[in-house]
Amino acid sequence: MLRVGLIGLGGIGRHHLMRYRQAPEAQVVAVADVRAGDLRADADLAALLEAPAEDVRWFDDYQDLVTSGAVDAVDICLPTYLHRPAAVAALEAGLHTLVEKPMALTLEDCDAMLAAAEAAGRVLMVAHCIRFWPEYQYLADLVRSGDAGRLLSLQMSRQGQRPSGASAGWMGQASRSGGAIYDLHIHDIDYCQYLLGLPQRLYAQGGMSLGAEAGYDYVLGNLDYGDDRQVSATAHWVSVGLPFAARFEARLEGAFLRFDSSQHPALTVYRAEGDPEHPALPGPDAYVNEIRYFAQRALDGRAPERCRARSTRNSVALVIGEMASLDRGGLVDVAEWTV
Ligand SMILES: NC(=O)c1ccc[n+]([C@@H]2O[C@H](COP(=O)([O-])OP(=O)(O)OC[C@H]3O[C@@H](n4cnc5c(N)ncnc54)[C@H](O)[C@@H]3O)[C@@H](O)[C@H]2O)c1
Repeated sequence: MLRVGLIGLGGIGRHHLMRYRQAPEAQVVAVADVRAGDLRADADLAALLEAPAEDVRWFDDYQDLVTSGAVDAVDICLPTYLHRPAAVAALEAGLHTLVEKPMALTLEDCDAMLAAAEAAGRVLMVAHCIRFWPEYQYLADLVRSGDAGRLLSLQMSRQGQRPSGASAGWMGQASRSGGAIYDLHIHDIDYCQYLLGLPQRLYAQGGMSLGAEAGYDYVLGNLDYGDDRQVSATAHWVSVGLPFAARFEARLEGAFLRFDSSQHPALTVYRAEGDPEHPALPGPDAYVNEIRYFAQRALDGRAPERCRARSTRNSVALVIGEMASLDRGGLVDVAEWTV
């Protein structure tokens, strides 16, 4: 059993906490959050903890959690600008580390996290949930099997509400969240890299309609693999009443797949013969899948091949490349940032 300390119990931290109940390999036995006092008094939250309440340790300061000796691993769900300091502190304390996406805001920060994991000999994994999302995994399995021929075209998109008003906080500041290009768009850029490897070049278009402080809030990135495949991803933070949705359309030689998270069923597969299919995708959701995968790898002390930290570092590099393309106004060679 992996004893886990959850650091940051806000929006996604709460989602993670719920999923540990479906992860027999791991249990949350400690929580660190600057709001620990209030959170501890929240009965709804206490009910989500699997360990007996008297056995769960609470900390205001994550530094105290990582040196407490109470945990074998941490799950960092802090605002993005805190990923590096918290992950490096945990790794230096000898703890396996799961950290939310994006890995960090700069390549210098990502590389410091990679170096800390290497020095500690501990598992570092970035929680890119789309790599564990059943519909996206269905597409990955189909492409890798070759059963429907080559992938010719992949168009990905996602839209969410812009951070607004008093609740915008750190998320509305590009200096702390990176803006929509880091927070939203990176999901799809990372998936393209997971599925197809690094592109050779990229070209991005977009802008900062919400002002420079919020960063790039709309972006379209075209990834050039040096062959005939069309690969693109677009993302928006919108101010109109549009519910969150993630979508993709993938054309293979022998099939066409359409995914729309706002529809049920969400995935439709079209083939030359027969009616369109809605494949049954039983099993836990992506967050359970990623937490269980991390816990199994940490317990075994094996590298998380499905979501290597170096690869997720390269997803930050691709976003930085897109911003360079936006600034320069043309195609950029990704080798300038990737390793
Ligand atoms: N994978 C996904 O689908 C997904 C979804 C949402 C957010 N995220 C990522 O998760 C991270 C957190 O996002 P969120 O929306 O949950 O943020 P949030 O603001 O809702 O939660 C952050 C939590 O961290 C706590 N915190 C802030 N500073 C702290 C500090 N110094 N020490 C201890 N606790 C501190 C806050 O009190 C809060 O509870 C971001 O990197 C974001 O990009 C991922």
